[in-house]
Amino acid sequence: MSGTNGKVAICPGSYDPVTYGHLDTIKRAARIFERVVVGVVDQPVRKQQTMFSAEERKRFIEDAAADIENVQIEVFNTLLVEFARKHEATVLVKGLRAISDFEYEFEMNQLNRKLDPGIESMYLMSSPEFSFLSSSGVKEMAAFGGDFTDLVPRLVAEGLKERYGR
Ligand code: PNS
Repeated sequence: MSGTNGKVAICPGSYDPVTYGHLDTIKRAARIFERVVVGVVDQPVRKQQTMFSAEERKRFIEDAAADIENVQIEVFNTLLVEFARKHEATVLVKGLRAISDFEYEFEMNQLNRKLDPGIESMYLMSSPEFSFLSSSGVKEMAAFGGDFTDLVPRLVAEGLKERYGR
């Protein structure tokens, strides 16, 4: 059942690639909000070149979230607050794992608040089974031949195996 408070939320991220941890946050947001727009940033400024193109990252999420009816996925290459305004969203939703996420998210929260005080950021504490899970961790496992297939959707696992020639 989707939320009925009439609000649109944005779940932004690099999603390079999407993991079951991201999908857990997206699903939980979709239960709270009327509509959720997953914003896939085209080129994250603070990170190195992404492994997957924005269209690939978007397709992975589309495939994995196909059964959630009030979720749409879109690539963006603007300020996040502009992307939110474009969708008439007033809330940004992100997952929060361990303490290590806090400092970065705190800064992003302040920057976004300065850019548009009308847009609120909200954080969903990660479900315990995903509290260790990150895209970079999965990529590292893939690079060294570890088994990561229960951490990411099937298409992502295939994409990673292809990239690492396994
Ligand atoms: O999954 P990530 O890498 O933590 O997501 C980062 C994301 C997409 C939230 C961030 O890079 C972003 O918002 N980029 C768009 C530019 C922007 O608005 N930056 C924040 C204020 S300067």
